[in-house]
Amino acid sequence: MVSVLVQWLGIASVWAATAVGAEYMKYKDPNQPVGVRVEDLLMRMTLEEKIGQMVQIDRTVATADVMRDYYIGSLLSGGGSTPLPGATATDWVNMVNKFQKGSLSTRLGIPMIYGIDAVHGHNNVVNATIFPHNVGLGATRQVNLSDVYLFRFPTLI
Ligand SMILES: *[C@@H]1O[C@H](CO)[C@@H](O)[C@H](O)[C@H]1NC(C)=O
Ligand SMILES: *[C@@H]1O[C@H](CO)[C@@H](O)[C@H](O)[C@H]1NC(C)=O
Repeated sequence: MVSVLVQWLGIASVWAATAVGAEYMKYKDPNQPVGVRVEDLLMRMTLEEKIGQMVQIDRTVATADVMRDYYIGSLLSGGGSTPLPGATATDWVNMVNKFQKGSLSTRLGIPMIYGIDAVHGHNNVVNATIFPHNVGLGATRQVNLSDVYLFRFPTLI
């Protein structure tokens, strides 16, 4: 009987600790002003977490575990750094989600930012729309030229 009680108390204290662990985090509250949230988050971060957040690595050396273990702030797909040859939009989304899951599983759950080296359309996605390169747009000397303009008047391309 005593051991059952001790066991129950043990379970109760684990439960209490879990409840305390789910404390209110100001930085996660969208109703707080941005400055307050930033201040709160920075105050909680360790030096390792801050350094990790300032680091960007390429997709080729990233895994969900690397994202989690080193608190990596951002990932880049440099030119041609694709999830697989002939990758579709779904392949890209699945890959990014896998890395993001690693980042979100960290102590503070800070999401990573994904960058893609694709300045004139994402030419590493099958069937994506590709626009002329920026330097080509500049060479037209039309200051009002924009992607929207080209999209609406594709015969100008
Ligand atoms: C790409 O577009 C072509 C032509 O519309 C289509 O036949 C093909 O299935 C598309 N590929 C993908 C992966 O969506
Ligand atoms: C862009 O500017 C050119 C030259 O000033 C003008 O002819 C054209 O109508 C403008 N296009 C748009 C979409 O505003």
